[in-house]
Amino acid sequence: MIKLAIDLGSSVTKIFKIGSGIVLAEPSCVAVASGTGTVKAIGEEAKLLIGKTAEYTTIVFPVFEANIVDAEMAAVMLGYFLKKIGVSRSKAKKTEVLFSVPCGAEDELLQKYARLADACGLGGFRFVETPFLAALGQNISLNEADPVFVVDIGGGNTNIAAFSLDGIIVGIGLNIGGGNIDSHIIDHIAASFNLKIGLQTSEKLKCTVGSLYANDNESMVVNGRDITTGRPRAVAVSSSDIYPCVKAFADKVIQYMLLVVAKLPAEVSASVYRNGIFLSGGTARMIGLDDYISRAMQMDVNLADEPQMAVILGGGRAVGNDDILDAITIDC
Ligand SMILES: Nc1ncnc2c1ncn2[C@@H]1O[C@H](COP(=O)(O)OP(=O)(O)OP(=O)(O)O)[C@@H](O)[C@H]1O
Ligand SMILES: [Mg+2]
Repeated sequence: MIKLAIDLGSSVTKIFKIGSGIVLAEPSCVAVASGTGTVKAIGEEAKLLIGKTAEYTTIVFPVFEANIVDAEMAAVMLGYFLKKIGVSRSKAKKTEVLFSVPCGAEDELLQKYARLADACGLGGFRFVETPFLAALGQNISLNEADPVFVVDIGGGNTNIAAFSLDGIIVGIGLNIGGGNIDSHIIDHIAASFNLKIGLQTSEKLKCTVGSLYANDNESMVVNGRDITTGRPRAVAVSSSDIYPCVKAFADKVIQYMLLVVAKLPAEVSASVYRNGIFLSGGTARMIGLDDYISRAMQMDVNLADEPQMAVILGGGRAVGNDDILDAITIDC
């Protein structure tokens, strides 16, 4: 039997294989010919095409804000990734998969995952809510008596939850993530520099100069199209230029964190306060986000060693441990 953990992220699909570790991390996108529907590229190769294709090629993100929005392309994409890691169609039926799903995932989404597993010919599958895996991936020892508070901020989904091995005490899965910062930056650069930039550029800008330290002043030259003249133009954009976009997003996440904290029973609050907040997800790599949250929440923040890989590493840990797996698997 092959055992896998799969995190079908809105931005990046990650796969862990027992015995090998993380075997795949590729953008969750597919390049499709608009007229014929022919698939031109998947994953890394498809992402390179974003914003650069002619009108007749469309880039599809089958998972948007943690929901499977294009079942057919999701199956094509996952089938390709499985093949790439050596799980061909014939091996798929001897493969068991743990899927990471958002906190509070509804039956409708689980059914979409079940159909996806079926379309890929998988032998078996189960679901675990993201916060459990984010915790396991940070080597937090879960038990019934000592609840923890986990925040995982991805590309299109943010999970905020207080839980123990017994289950989620208070938790939410929000359809916001780093992608919201990217689109806010595009609008902001258009308004302040009269320059239209693409999604790839805005993400790169965010990851390179984005910071939650108000005094940071790194800068990066970006190329785009002048909105008035239509001509190509380059400008230097600094951390302070995009600070409002980064801050607005962080403040929104903090608002929801406060909502969750306010609903916690007193004993759970005490435990959460003692343990601090465990922060993961690709967006947690944003410079200064840990300190910013710590100040706003007046709590310690523990940033994961590998924020973007915490969930899949936790998936890998869970797949190899039947006791943990039984405690955290969603009953369907
Ligand atoms: N250094 C960085 N600074 C800020 N953001 C970053 C950095 N590196 C990656 N990101 C962002 O992290 C996000 C992807 O994170 P992650 O892989 O955790 O998401 P995902 O699991 O694919 O999506 P989701 O969990 O939301 O469905 C992207 O928005 C990406 O731009
Ligand atoms: Mg994720």
